[in-house]
Amino acid sequence: MKNNNKVAVRIAQLRDIIEQHNYQYYVLDNPSIPDSEYDRLFNELKDLETQHPELQTLDSPTHRVGAKPLAVFKSITHKVPMLSIDNAFSSEDIDNFVRRINERLGSSNAVEFVAEPKIDGLAVSLVYENGVLSHAATRGDGATGEDITLNCRAIQDIPLRLHTKTPPDHAEVRGEVYMLKSRFQQLNAIALSENSNPFANPRNAAAGSLRQLDPNITRKRGLSFFAYSLPEAQMLKHSDCLQQLRDWGFKVCDQIQLVSGVSGCEEYFKQLGIKRDLLPYEIDGIVYKVNSLADQKELGFVSRSPRWAIAYKFPAQEVMTELLAVDFQVGRTGILTPVARLQPVFVGGVTVSNATLHNMDEIARKDIQIGDTVIVRRAGDVIPEVVGSVLAKRPKNAKQIKAPTKCPVCNSAAIRMEGEAAIRCMGELSCPAQLKEAIAHFASRRAMDIDGLGDKLVDQFVEANLIRTVADLYVLKYDQLLQLERMGEKSANNLLQAIDSSKNTTLERFLYALGIREVGTTTAKTLAFEFGDLEPLMLANIEQLQRIQDIGPVVAESIYVFFQQQHNLEVINKLIKYGVHWPKNKIERKVLPLAGQTFVLTGAMVSLTRDAATEILQNLGATVAGSVSKKTTYVVAGAEAGSKLAKAQQLGVKVLNEEQLLEILRMHD
Ligand code: IVH
Repeated sequence: MKNNNKVAVRIAQLRDIIEQHNYQYYVLDNPSIPDSEYDRLFNELKDLETQHPELQTLDSPTHRVGAKPLAVFKSITHKVPMLSIDNAFSSEDIDNFVRRINERLGSSNAVEFVAEPKIDGLAVSLVYENGVLSHAATRGDGATGEDITLNCRAIQDIPLRLHTKTPPDHAEVRGEVYMLKSRFQQLNAIALSENSNPFANPRNAAAGSLRQLDPNITRKRGLSFFAYSLPEAQMLKHSDCLQQLRDWGFKVCDQIQLVSGVSGCEEYFKQLGIKRDLLPYEIDGIVYKVNSLADQKELGFVSRSPRWAIAYKFPAQEVMTELLAVDFQVGRTGILTPVARLQPVFVGGVTVSNATLHNMDEIARKDIQIGDTVIVRRAGDVIPEVVGSVLAKRPKNAKQIKAPTKCPVCNSAAIRMEGEAAIRCMGELSCPAQLKEAIAHFASRRAMDIDGLGDKLVDQFVEANLIRTVADLYVLKYDQLLQLERMGEKSANNLLQAIDSSKNTTLERFLYALGIREVGTTTAKTLAFEFGDLEPLMLANIEQLQRIQDIGPVVAESIYVFFQQQHNLEVINKLIKYGVHWPKNKIERKVLPLAGQTFVLTGAMVSLTRDAATEILQNLGATVAGSVSKKTTYVVAGAEAGSKLAKAQQLGVKVLNEEQLLEILRMHD
């Protein structure tokens, strides 16, 4: 026992010493012992922990290495949502931002802000329970993110334990995971020497390194972390929070400054703009935050962003190059997007050889021709875009860009619909390009999440005619897979396994996966919540859909039209038949299944009284009216129905018999 005690003391001592050295090395950039001595201590700790597994703890520095790869990321719900910040692009925007704050706070004093570089990485939330790092998550959609605890443990700047003897029971720390420019260059040099693809920029490199199922890869990539907020802090000022973070052992960006009023913000912007290229990490702007937490609370939020913070983005970087050609790319919904093929040019840290031209109207507006010298802009991680052409440099042989009349992939007619800027291929899912996009979308992470079903595989499936609708994925056979190029037994099994597990999904994912035009993840979530199950949604009319918050006429129509199409219904039926399922939502629906429908009951019914039928219909959200008009959805005619039935027939209102009414009631039972 005594001996064990001694070991425990030594282990605790080693952990403290090693974490102290980690802190000196990674956070303070000031190593205090030679690497060999560090390795000796680390190995001693590892050996002791191996001999005494009962003394292992999660906050041991040995846990930064050696964790096993995960099969999937779990999701984590954020206790406080991770919101985004509004952007400002000009000093006028900053003027307005500061003015609005003064107005809301009813003060004319210069507001004190904390000005922070906007680090170009990924937002991460770290949760410490009793001072020990217990969970880490990505931002995700702001409400829920992915559990990246193991990966964050592999980032040396992130303390596994807060440096304090009196840790709070619970603390959430937020900040940015990023990659140093020097590390990015090193990794890309290695990638090039190994003939693999280099990363486009440090942000992509950081994202790719953080979202690794194997945390050992994350560790080897050498990511960094800056802490920038304590969302649940009970302090007076944001600057106090930053000090707390430093005291707890976090790296806080050393360019952060207190500034006052508009002039302070402008001055900081100028100064940081000059230093920007010299900083060892990429920044894409500045975040200004009101320093007083009481004022922050008073200012509150508008939609999804706080009124007390703004991100002033550095102007996009622009360069000139030659437009070599224009191709039309077919997207998931058949839209043909003109893509500029450019003489490769270096802008904003990456080489750009393609850029979107959006649509034909944009091309006309910007007066762009093939052969022109064009201005290309790239801002942050946004897709590069052609801003316009330099008319003075237009060559004599410049060529007009013609709108395609045929789809470049399937040769179907390409038509510009009235009121739309886009040209669409009319081939729908018979167009291999649209089908490929639809399958890739269906399998994507936020949809059915079929791991391993990448673009190359989708191309092969479509080209080999193995898949004609997304439902065909669920009847793929092992032997069929083996016939594909570069498909081994193990990958084939893994893929079938991934396809099989995707059957167990959520309504929200399923709706998003269907690829209904205008329905992104947020709308899919809203629909799942409001309707609880697929059937009531499929039966909803445009009016009912529009009654839902955030669903406007265009989205409502798109959803309605989608569920009217026979092809879509067949695919949905097959998917369900092949085993795709989701838990039914028990939440009381805000939109009742028959909301927006008006019934008129007439004549005598056998199985229930008119009053009983009225009550049931009303409970389902329908209106039960006394007289027939054009607005009536259904007239239910019992025995000896008289003038109301005649009126319905005259107005062309649909008439149901008792059995058909019961059918509707049963459907919503
Ligand atoms: S504060 C409600 N501070 O910029 C305020 N964000 O939308 C939440 N970012 O992706 C964010 N540096 O990850 C804040 N010093 C900084 C930041 C920063 C980079 C990122 C953040 C988020 C985006 C803001």
